[in-house]
Amino acid sequence: MKSLFQAINWSGSSLQLLDQRRLPDEEVYLDFTDAPAVADAIRDMVVRGAPAIGITAAYAVVLAAQQHITRSPSDWRTPLLRDIQRLSDARPTAVNLVWALQRMQRRLSRAGDAPVAALLDEAKHIHQEDIDANIQMGKHGAGLIKKGDSVLTYCNTGSLATGGYGTALGVVRSAWAAHKLDRVFAGETRPWLQGARLTAWELVHDEIPVTLITDNAAAFLMQNKQVQWVVTGADRVAANGDVINKIGTYQLAVSCRYHGVKMMVAAPLSTLDMEMVDGSQVTIEQRPEAEVLELSGQRIAADGATAWNPAFDVTPAALVDYLVTEAGVIAAPDTAKLAAFHSGLPSV
Ligand code: MRU
Repeated sequence: MKSLFQAINWSGSSLQLLDQRRLPDEEVYLDFTDAPAVADAIRDMVVRGAPAIGITAAYAVVLAAQQHITRSPSDWRTPLLRDIQRLSDARPTAVNLVWALQRMQRRLSRAGDAPVAALLDEAKHIHQEDIDANIQMGKHGAGLIKKGDSVLTYCNTGSLATGGYGTALGVVRSAWAAHKLDRVFAGETRPWLQGARLTAWELVHDEIPVTLITDNAAAFLMQNKQVQWVVTGADRVAANGDVINKIGTYQLAVSCRYHGVKMMVAAPLSTLDMEMVDGSQVTIEQRPEAEVLELSGQRIAADGATAWNPAFDVTPAALVDYLVTEAGVIAAPDTAKLAAFHSGLPSV
């Protein structure tokens, strides 16, 4: 696996994040020493992507423990728990954020009065397990793809959005390495342009030829039989298989079904939310109107217009052909299949 950059770095005492707002123009790392600043960075999309924000939050808990134990050796738990709550509130939709924070809290509860080393160990495990899961998902997903197929991927699901390698982009990387793919298309992903700015940047880095399309070209691409697959990630998968992912995923899934294109969702187990019965219960993050009304800080919409800017949507399970996890593939996921799959997993 080629790895040209690391979006999340633990330096030994601080956390460095590649500022994704400035890509692809500049590769700038920001240095963080306290959790509230990391929470702001998650909210402001310095780092984004469901697994990546979980990993980042886990390291931020280490920063918080370091800081509060030094400042108030007798009462560090109260400010630490306040920081954990602040991290948890940074973005509402991706379950990986709360999943990682709950894992850090479980480790904290077993760690005694000097928890920094234990917390750092847990954060590093969360990080490495995500990379391992992505490589497994890449293999499982690529196994479904036939030689000569072409794929459309969406948003950014690669090394920038995860611990490394990627979810859906891991499938693309793995299928490309196996010489299966004819072409890789990427949707530009308005309004934040994760596809145009980040996915294209990663694929160019990896020397995988990428063809960008505007988001509104997807149905026509399918009608012209140029793709056999849409491969996306997920920010949360509900217990019935509903997929919550970047706004626009739902319309891709609808178009896939109409055109006979297969819809594959690659998501690690940390993205499964077995407590959420279906996708109707999720909180969909609403982002600032300016993301739609402006481009690179420049107003492009007519003065007086307003914008509606949900960051995610819900794709009903019935439109998902394959759910790919590190533990295996579920075809046509539904409540019964997911429950059976989940009960067969080793307990953590
Ligand atoms: O708003 P973002 O950029 O954090 O949204 C990211 C996505 O929707 C990804 O598709 C998702 O996190 C799954 S893959 C890592």
